[in-house]
Amino acid sequence: MIFDSHAHYDDESFNEDREQLIEELKDNGVVGILNCGASLEGARASVKFTKQYDFFYAAVGIHPEYADILNDDVIEELRSLAKESKVKAIGEIGLDYHYDGNPEKKVQKDAFIKQMKLAQELKLPVVIHDREAHEDTLNILKMFPEVIGVVHCFSGSVEFAKECIKLGYFIGFTGVVTFKNAKKAVEVAREIPMEKILLETDCPYMSPEPYRGKRNRSDYIEYIAMKIAEIKSETAINVKNQAILNTKKLFNI
Ligand code: NI
Repeated sequence: MIFDSHAHYDDESFNEDREQLIEELKDNGVVGILNCGASLEGARASVKFTKQYDFFYAAVGIHPEYADILNDDVIEELRSLAKESKVKAIGEIGLDYHYDGNPEKKVQKDAFIKQMKLAQELKLPVVIHDREAHEDTLNILKMFPEVIGVVHCFSGSVEFAKECIKLGYFIGFTGVVTFKNAKKAVEVAREIPMEKILLETDCPYMSPEPYRGKRNRSDYIEYIAMKIAEIKSETAINVKNQAILNTKKLFNI
């Protein structure tokens, strides 16, 4: 059984065959998917999926890439979407300093903080996106000691992972851990307890080996579980089952 704790089935790369693909996932042992909104449209679509498919759950939030759209009206819509019964988190939210085209740091931080406040108010966990912004991300997480969540597609060091765990966060692993040059992610997987690991695709992106570069899908979590099993001298079944327990615990499913 597989639970994909981070997916984007609203992405246009699924437009051609979305319904058929989702049926196949069910046949291939996928028992749960958390679809994460990145834009406001993505948040609305994520909620729509939860009504269409019994095994879909949603996170609603504005990704740092779109931080400049976050005004009071947007927060109000997120608040009302978040009250739907299968919305289990605020996300994905955070900081992304990788692309020059992203909104400036101040705008990103402001949007991140406003959405952390919303999570605190609604008592929901958060799905964090952090790319090349570890220090600023950690400082903002520390401002909200009552909020927990997952640092998705984790790209930091072992020390940073341990800091996040100390704050109550889980660490999300994508296909990146299967890449030949994935030294850091492998080290983090080795050093943190299995009880803090979530498995995720971030599909359509981040396909694991042997599908690197192709469109990703939730049943490919099998390859991520196999890799983590190898790192931790465990069986893939135990890794998948523990990750399901962790995901359900965090998102109150
Ligand atoms: Ni994502």
